[in-house]
Formats: sequence, C-alpha cells, structure tokens
Amino acid sequence: MSETVREMIPEADLAARIEELGRQISADYEGESVFLVCILRGASFFGCELAKRIKVPVTIDFMTTSSYGSGTTSSGEVTIKNDIELSVEGRHVLIVEDIIDSGHTLHFLSDVFRERNAKSVRLCAMLDKPDRREVDVEVDYVGFTIPDEFVVGYGLDYDQKYRNLPYIGVVEF
Ligand code: IMP
Ligand code: MG
Repeated sequence: MSETVREMIPEADLAARIEELGRQISADYEGESVFLVCILRGASFFGCELAKRIKVPVTIDFMTTSSYGSGTTSSGEVTIKNDIELSVEGRHVLIVEDIIDSGHTLHFLSDVFRERNAKSVRLCAMLDKPDRREVDVEVDYVGFTIPDEFVVGYGLDYDQKYRNLPYIGVVEF
C-alpha cells in the first residue's frame, strides 16, 4: 500500500512556535532548573529543539514507552520499555511528548513521575488532538492543536517512516 503526505505545519511555523514555547518555559521556571524527560522516538526532534531554546539550566533524559494497540490506534495500557537513567527526586520534571492523542501515555507518565517524588510534574506536547481524548489530562504547554488526522514528520512516524520530514504532514492513503 502506498501513501502520500500533505504538508500541514511548515518547518518555519514549527521553529517559531518552539521558540515561543522555550521563552514561556524559561519564564515559568525562572530561578529553577528543569528536567526534560523526552519520550522516544517521536519526541526526540522536538525535545532537542525545545531544549536549545530554554534559558534556565536543563537536564535531559530519554524514555521509551509503548502502548499496545494496532495500526493507528493505541490501547489504554502503557508500559515503560526503556527507563531514564537519572533520578528525578526533588526535580522539576517536564515531560516532552510528540503528540497527545487518547491521553493515556501522558496520564500514565505524570503518575509515574509523581510517584518518584519529582518536585513538580508538567507536560509539554508538540501537537494536541483533543477530539481523540479518552482520559482527562491537563497539558501545560502545547505547540499546535490539530484536527483528528494521522500526522507524520518532525519525529512522528507511520510504520517507522517519515520521522525525518522537517515539517508536520498528514498521511493520505
Ligand atoms: P496517546 O497515549 O493515545 O495520547 O498517544 C500518544 C502516542 O500515540 C504518541 O506518542 C504517538 O506515538 C502516537 N500517535 C498518536 N497520534 C499519532 C499521529 O497522528 N501520528 C503518529 N503517531 C501518533
Ligand atoms: Mg510516542
């Protein structure tokens, strides 16, 4: 089956929005440091670009989660496949995700870091698809709110393809 990708958010718009988020996060955490937990693989591009635009001291670590499901839908069961290495105890954790869809992943992760005694836990998602929400999660920082379409690029994949696109696109089958 072959698919095409239609551009939805240009590279320049992503860069401008990430710059703004960086400014906002820098202001909100002024006088503190922030521990970015970047969720692999999707949030790696966004997480690194965002980290470069934060002016307070940053620690960065990476985690891989999986939510069992098939195709383009996820189930509610989220597990940690590869954990971060550093301790978050007493640290201000900012979880960085590519996209919030059903909300299960970020809901699960915010509980995980609260249980690990982080000083605070906030959530940041490059994209938000609110129409698909199944659990109520409050996301502190959102790049773009998008309609219910399957998107790729800037870290996001379809079947492990298209992560390297510098823009966000919609997959058309
Ligand atoms: P949630 O747990 O349903 O909120 O799902 C979050 C995860 O689902 C993201 O980290 C992505 O890996 C994946 N996902 C959800 N929507 C999309 C999409 O449109 N394109 C690519 N991956 C997606
Ligand atoms: Mg993901």
